[in-house]
Order: sequence, then C-alpha cells, then structure tokens
Amino acid sequence: MKASVKDEVQSRRTFAIISHPDAGKTTLTEKLLLFGGAIRDAGTVKARKTGKYATSDWMEIEKQRGISVTSSVMQFDYEGFRVNILDTPGHQDFSEDTYRTLTAVDSAVMIVDSAKGIEEQTIKLFKVCRMRGIPIFTFINKMDRQGKPPLDLLAELEEVLGIESYPMNWPIGMGKDFMGIYDRYFNRIELFKDETDNPFIPLNEDGELEAGHELADSQLFEQTLEEIMLLSEAGNEFSEERIANGTLTPVFFGSALTAFGVQTFLDTYLQFAPQPQPRNSTSGEINPVSDDFSGFIFKIQANMNPKHRDRIAFLRICSGQFERGMTVFQSRTGKQINLSQSTQFLADDRNTVNEAVSGDIIGLYDTGNYQIGDTITTNKDMFQFERLPQFTPEMFVRVTAKNVMKQKHFHKGIQQLVQEGAIQLFKTVRMEEYLLGAVGQLQFEVFEHRMKNEYNVDVLMERVGTKVVRWVDDEKIDENLSNSRSVLVKDRFDKYVFLFENEFALRWFTDKNPDIKLYNPMDMK
Ligand code: G4P
Repeated sequence: MKASVKDEVQSRRTFAIISHPDAGKTTLTEKLLLFGGAIRDAGTVKARKTGKYATSDWMEIEKQRGISVTSSVMQFDYEGFRVNILDTPGHQDFSEDTYRTLTAVDSAVMIVDSAKGIEEQTIKLFKVCRMRGIPIFTFINKMDRQGKPPLDLLAELEEVLGIESYPMNWPIGMGKDFMGIYDRYFNRIELFKDETDNPFIPLNEDGELEAGHELADSQLFEQTLEEIMLLSEAGNEFSEERIANGTLTPVFFGSALTAFGVQTFLDTYLQFAPQPQPRNSTSGEINPVSDDFSGFIFKIQANMNPKHRDRIAFLRICSGQFERGMTVFQSRTGKQINLSQSTQFLADDRNTVNEAVSGDIIGLYDTGNYQIGDTITTNKDMFQFERLPQFTPEMFVRVTAKNVMKQKHFHKGIQQLVQEGAIQLFKTVRMEEYLLGAVGQLQFEVFEHRMKNEYNVDVLMERVGTKVVRWVDDEKIDENLSNSRSVLVKDRFDKYVFLFENEFALRWFTDKNPDIKLYNPMDMK
C-alpha cells in the first residue's frame, strides 16, 4: 500500500456513541460535529431527531414518533484526523440494529447522565462492546445539573458494568456550583463560566495552582484536590494497554448542552482511540493497510429518502482503498459487482464518494444484491469476515397478507425487510407459516408501517405466545417433535429452531430429548 494511503488509514477514528435515551447522545454528537466543522448550526442533529429537519427525515415513522429508528453515519475532519461517528437508535426496541452497528466501529463512547448513573440500555450496549473487546470511553454528562457524587459514579461503573476506570479529568462542584474541571491529562483547570477568552489555568508540576492564581470558591477547590489525591493513591493506574483492550475506561466529565468539556474530550479521545484494527476472516486476520480492498455490510436501509425510493447497503471498509467504479467479488455468491454508485454520509447531506479507505463507512446503492453480513473484496480468495452475531428474538407474531391477491408484494416486502435485518423471519416446518421475531414491539410496528407504505400490503399479525427460543445444533431432526408447546421452525438460513411456550416447556423437552443439543446464540459469546 502506498505510504500516503497508509497515512490516510492511520488518521481514521471510527466510533459509535452508546447511551440510554435522554443521556445526551444527540446533543454531544451535535457539539462534536460543530467542532469538526461538519455542521454550521447547532440544532441540525437535534432537529433530525425531533423530525423538524426534512432532508434527513429518513423515515416517516421517525417523524411520527420523534425517535431515531435507524443508525446514521457522520464524518468530519479534525486536527489531522478523519472522524466517523456511527449514530445508533436510542430506543431499546431497535437494539438489534445498534448491536450490528457496534460490529463496524473500533471504539465506543458511552454517555452517562450524572444524575441517573448507569441505566438499563447502557448496560446492554456495554455488554456488546465488551464482547468485542473494543475500547470504551466514558463521558459523564450534565454536570451543570445536580447529579450523583462523582466517586459514586465511578463505583457504579465498576459494580454495575464491571469495568475499571481512570478519570482523565474531575469536576469541581456540580449543578449551580459547577466551576469546571480539573484536567489530570492536560494538567490544567478548565473553567465552566469564564468571561475571558482563555478558560484554562495551567497547574504546576505538583498539580496545584501556581502562586497568585485562585479560584472563586477555594473551599470547593480544596475538596476537589482531596478527591484527586484519593484517586491518585487509591484509584486505578493509567494504562494505554488496558484502554486498548477495553478493560479500563477513561472517564471525562462535562456538559454537552453548554459544550463544556466536549473539545477537551475530543482532543484527548483522539490521542487514545484506536485507528482501524485488523479483523478476523476465513483467511485469517485481514490487515487494514493491506493492498486488497475488503469490507462487510453491517446494515441495509431501504427508502432512506422517500423521494428516491432507494436502498442503501452500509459498508465498513476493512482493508485497502475504495475507488468509485471498482469491481469486487461478493464472497457469498462469487458474483462480481461494480461499485459505481456509492455515497458518503454527512450530518446534513449525502455526497458522492470517490475514494475512501479502511475505517470509513460508505453507502452502496443496492438493487437487491446485498445481505447483512456480506463480505466484498477484490481478493480472488473471496474470504469472508466473521459472521455478524445473531440476536435472539424476544417476541413473535404470525404474519399473513390481509388480501390474498397481494401475495407477491407480501413476499417481496418480507424478503427485503428481512434481508435488511429489520426483523427476523421463521417458517414453521409443517405448514410453512410465516413467523416474525423481534427484540422489541416497535420493530413489528415499523414492519407493518413499511409493508403498507413501501410495498402496498396490509398485513395481519397475530401474537404467538413463545417465550423461549433455542437453535438446534444439528442439521437433521425429527420434524414430528413439533407441537403446540414447542414449535419447530426454520430460520432464514434453514437452521432448525424451537420456539418454546415457556421455560417449563423447554425443560420438559430437554428431559425427554437429552440427545438434542439446543443453544441460544446470545449465550455463545
Ligand atoms: P439522547 O440523544 O441521548 O436521547 O439525548 P438528547 O441529546 O436529546 O438530550 C436529552 C435531554 O437532555 C435534552 O433535553 C437535552 O437538552 C438535555 N441535555 C443534554 N445534555 C445536557 C447537559 O449537559 N446538561 C443539561 N442540563 N441538559 C442536557 P430535552 O428537554 O429533552 O430536550 P430539549 O427541550 O432541550 O430539546
């Protein structure tokens, strides 16, 4: 690979922001984009979330519900880095989409609301990052409000998430007494409400204020110094290695709403966040700076722009350089595909992309060629990247078309939405009935809405009382084992799956059939 392209790869930082809804993900994203010059107006990202911003209103349902249903990608240049932020839906019903997005990043930023601490959705998303062993950076937000004591928040990180932490900076007060942060990394104080142009006060070698400098509330500052001493003596040691392997999270305090601490966070984050990392494939580890181009599809999104009725496959580039018009192999089918239509994502627009390198995310216009998890590469070996994790649905419906004359549209709609990963499809072995599996109820509602709006089909959905799902670890099974309490179905890869009415039915089944090995894909990682 040419040295100039290698430099390009090394400048990439690709991450996702994870948090519980309302912790401040949209606000922080917006502030990061402002610093990066990718947007001019505060309110652009926020307006998209609330549905006021027309061009990025990718789906009607986002507007109607005021929630972000789909992940989007934003890119900006900052201080010699090219930063790719992958946005993720905050609503827990779309966590499947978020989980897949997390496979396409090299690190994650976790936002914690200082008043709420570690919340449920954060725990789930954190676990996925943990499974992948990616570095996690923590931003404790809303310091301008009264929150939990900072030491308690660190204790929660350890107790609830089981991750050790290293505070890169430390708040001086909070809420109406919030004065700023004591920055351990840059060895300076950053003042919250500073009337002058320079909010920074340098500290001396001992981490104390230089003679002649004083803070307005010296008592509060004394308390901060005591806490800093406690952290230095009893806290974790800083370790770049442990940050890189995801066992130590650097912690930053700030207030996204007032943009306080955001630039300091970004400056520090970029120093320690990993550049694009090697990825496992059927041909071993693929190096991001190798000459062959390769990547995988982690998301497919139809009708992002209702005016164009297009369908876009999101590709994470894992090696080499992308050039518009290049021809690649699709490893799953062996087909050759010409990549002439591609797009890059910005916060408020979509541009055509001509060149991109490992770490970047590009959108490929898709006419039905791609499936989630597909590898494309210029390498004749046609290796495949590790399969994306499969998520165990938590609820099921039986689905049919209201009007039997619409069968063709019905099948086309289901097939495309399933390929997109919007929902999981199962067929019963005897009757070939269609069952849909989802992680959250809203996924069904989006499915119904899209079937009507995009494929012109009204669907009937009837809830199935399945509580427990297990895949069968065997190619063959006696289909007569299927009954109303343990329904045998096949997933879209033709693998057998049992849908059990409840835990009791599962136990009864395993007692009766000890030779049949069942597993839950979510337990395997
Ligand atoms: P999300 O994407 O994680 O769901 O959160 P979002 O950024 O939308 O923020 C949720 C709420 O928290 C918003 O208030 C936002 O203004 C507020 N917020 C974000 N960061 C901070 C912060 O640092 N300090 C304070 N005090 N508030 C913060 P909202 O009332 O729901 O929305 P809006 O009326 O401000 O639009």
